[in-house]
Amino acid sequence: MQARAEDLRRDGRRIAVVPTMGALHEGHLSLIRAARAKADVVILTIFVNPTQFGPTEDLSRYPRDEAGDLLKARGAGIDLAFCPPVEAMYRPGSQTFIEVRELQQPLCGARRPGHFAGVATVVAKLFHITRPHLAVFGEKDYQQLAIIRRMVRDLDFAIEIVGVPIVREPDGLALSSRNAYLSADQRQAALSLSAGLAAAARAFAGGERRAAQLVAAARAPIEAAAAARSDLRIDYAELRDASELTELEVAVGPAVLALAVYVGTTRLIDNRVLGG
Ligand code: PAJ
Repeated sequence: MQARAEDLRRDGRRIAVVPTMGALHEGHLSLIRAARAKADVVILTIFVNPTQFGPTEDLSRYPRDEAGDLLKARGAGIDLAFCPPVEAMYRPGSQTFIEVRELQQPLCGARRPGHFAGVATVVAKLFHITRPHLAVFGEKDYQQLAIIRRMVRDLDFAIEIVGVPIVREPDGLALSSRNAYLSADQRQAALSLSAGLAAAARAFAGGERRAAQLVAAARAPIEAAAAARSDLRIDYAELRDASELTELEVAVGPAVLALAVYVGTTRLIDNRVLGG
């Protein structure tokens, strides 16, 4: 892959990479389309990265459908796919990790120790392997995008990072490979995440700037859904500065309302930028 990418660069082709863990849905396809619009060559990577999963997380049951993924990705306009086996990515004795020290601390970083070091490291490796001019990521994983932007800046990667808005189902549910784990009634309960974010956005539009009030507005529909079933649990609901992810008492500049909610054993995340 690296030799191929080098050849493409030598021929003056502009390369975009779209890193994924597969189980592709419309969210992933929108990243591919964004890449297609900005580059000559679009490389999709599919790699379920073991170093970003905790010991009790869903690595072994993560949905996999490489043949289906390649069909969808071809339809959306990829030129090349890079789908390495784990042994090719992590050779025995691998011991180097990238940490984005502050941005990896809060939100998902606090609940998933080591997760973002795994993400930053594998993304850096995928960048070195695919040699892109630009790389496309979704705003669905807001903290991940912030971390990758900072890594690229701090370590002088000459790569443009493009963020793509969250793709949602018509009823508001953010598309996620993990939605495949949800039963029909769990999926219904999961709508409370986007409903909570919409409620916070309404409060913000109405002039509310206090973090506690905005978070309370976001929590209300989730807590209402949780009252009716025992398997819904808020992991976090926080308002943070949109670029530094620091805690806010009042939303003065752009802020992000970030949610993580367990529906049964499935952990869903969603977010909305307020005042961006
Ligand atoms: P994965 O969860 O497969 O997501 C791949 C990319 O698709 C990420 O940039 C993610 O933000 C984006 N994405 C997922 N759902 C989306 C949606 N509903 N709307 C828009 N974009 C969406 O994120 C990862 O994989 C991994 O951590 C990875 C970056 C590949 C490193 O292993």
